Amino acid sequence: MAAEIIPWRATVLTLFPEMFPGPLGASLAGKALASGLWALEARDIRDSATDRHRSVDDTPAGGGPGMVLRADVLAAAIDAADSAADRPRDRPRLLMSPRGRPLTQSWVRELAAGPGPLIVCGRFEGIDQRVIEARRLEEVSIGDYVLSGGEIAAFAVIDACVRLLPGVMGKPASGAEESFSEGLLEYPQYTRPQDFEGRTIPEILLSGDHAKIAAWRQAEAEALTRARRPDLWAARQAPSAPRQKRPKNTTEG
Ligand code: ADE
Repeated sequence: MAAEIIPWRATVLTLFPEMFPGPLGASLAGKALASGLWALEARDIRDSATDRHRSVDDTPAGGGPGMVLRADVLAAAIDAADSAADRPRDRPRLLMSPRGRPLTQSWVRELAAGPGPLIVCGRFEGIDQRVIEARRLEEVSIGDYVLSGGEIAAFAVIDACVRLLPGVMGKPASGAEESFSEGLLEYPQYTRPQDFEGRTIPEILLSGDHAKIAAWRQAEAEALTRARRPDLWAARQAPSAPRQKRPKNTTEG
């Protein structure tokens, strides 16, 4: 009997499972989800609450504002998700958090190449530190700003991965060529009409000379990267330094 192919799967632990699939149910990701190229499982953390009020949070030890997600409830939710999964052992466990390691395209590529992550969405003031350590959650940030919860950040992680899965994008070349694949921002694109409010398409793009067009695009991409992202440009100028590399996770549980 042929071995069953288990698709890439994102398991999301959230207090708002009704938010999913949300935007991931539309466009390319949504079509791929519907056709079984990947799978999405949203699990309600509250299902792991044990008291009769189904409470998941409590006041912070030491005082202060807000509420903290309880370690016992979240650990039970993670364990339940793992025991229900086909391949829990090699699955990365992520915690969406503004204090996490910044998400990069190379990390996305790693996640897309694996079985698919378990993603914990934080809410309230935070999560009890002990469950982060005990269940070896890797904290991921999608940028230096604070969202009201991890769900929107989880959409970003999943979307970035799903578009790299085989069969999801129309044309394989378009995934590789764009921003960040070569450490450069994307060159400008044009299409019809030839004249838009007096602005015309750069002559060279209409020349049919593919070598010249490629050189022009490369120069534009480099100029944009220098002007807008000196950090990316500097990393590119020092090729011996690892580019967009993620340091090893040193958290010990
Ligand atoms: N949760 C709240 N803000 C976040 C951010 N910037 N990245 C990831 N998760 C978050």
